[in-house]
Amino acid sequence: MKVIVNGIDGAMGSILARIIREADDMEIAAGITPTGFEGAYLKPQDYQGEADIVIDFSHHEGTETLMDYCVQRQLPVVVCTTGQTEAEMEYIRKASEQIPVFKSANMSVGVALTARIVKEVAAKFGGCDIEIVETHHTRKLDAPSGTAIMLADAARESRPELHYNLGRSGNAKREPEEIGINAVRRGNVVGTHEVMFGTANQTITITHEAHDRALFADGAVAAARFLFGKPAGFYNMEDLLSE
Ligand SMILES: NC(=O)c1ccc[n+]([C@@H]2O[C@H](COP(=O)([O-])OP(=O)(O)OC[C@H]3O[C@@H](n4cnc5c(N)ncnc54)[C@H](O)[C@@H]3O)[C@@H](O)[C@H]2O)c1
Repeated sequence: MKVIVNGIDGAMGSILARIIREADDMEIAAGITPTGFEGAYLKPQDYQGEADIVIDFSHHEGTETLMDYCVQRQLPVVVCTTGQTEAEMEYIRKASEQIPVFKSANMSVGVALTARIVKEVAAKFGGCDIEIVETHHTRKLDAPSGTAIMLADAARESRPELHYNLGRSGNAKREPEEIGINAVRRGNVVGTHEVMFGTANQTITITHEAHDRALFADGAVAAARFLFGKPAGFYNMEDLLSE
């Protein structure tokens, strides 16, 4: 499979490029980045050579340019970039009427599996208290993490009456109908998410621990293998896990 890597000199794009070079069934068709990185093209439209698929780890401001290119060339695309505006998301959805598009805010297959398990435990472990603790490195800008919210959303799919309590503090007794979400910041932690389900007599804790950001690139490669050959449509991790 010949892969165009959009954002090839970024933190994720460079990890992805290494993983593709090591894969038996993939090769890099072209790299794209606006930085002038050696051997790369400045924008997708500059490359019209052979390609089977695009994997995108870039910046959401490039959404329209990228989607126009993929539609024009009828190339499937795995969109790993996050932060799209509502208008940009609409552009991606429109494109997916003409080409296969895979999009997930978290490309980790392990996190997707964790979310599935969380949904099931929340449904079947009746009336339990659900608490989420996420831990990340000290450079992280946002709290709680998007993944913590994603896991809380998974629990709420089973128990829609629950609401979120972010960072409980002060005179704040726990209410039965809440999911407590707390953030810990220390050292160089890549990302750990613990979801606790507690009753008076027992506790289940489900933990996902990321050791290396390469897990996102691994997920992108799995998504590319899944997407290749699919009809036009909008696909996500749930579709990949269900196959
Ligand atoms: N879905 C996931 O699981 C997941 C995981 C990690 C990162 N991400 C997302 O992937 C994206 C890239 O992350 P990163 O850490 O590699 O960032 P980065 O800043 O290290 O790299 C960004 C890349 O995009 C390019 N770029 C910057 N502005 C651009 C523009 N306007 N148009 C086209 N290309 C542009 C840069 O030159 C660079 O190659 C971010 O949106 C990030 O949130 C998603």
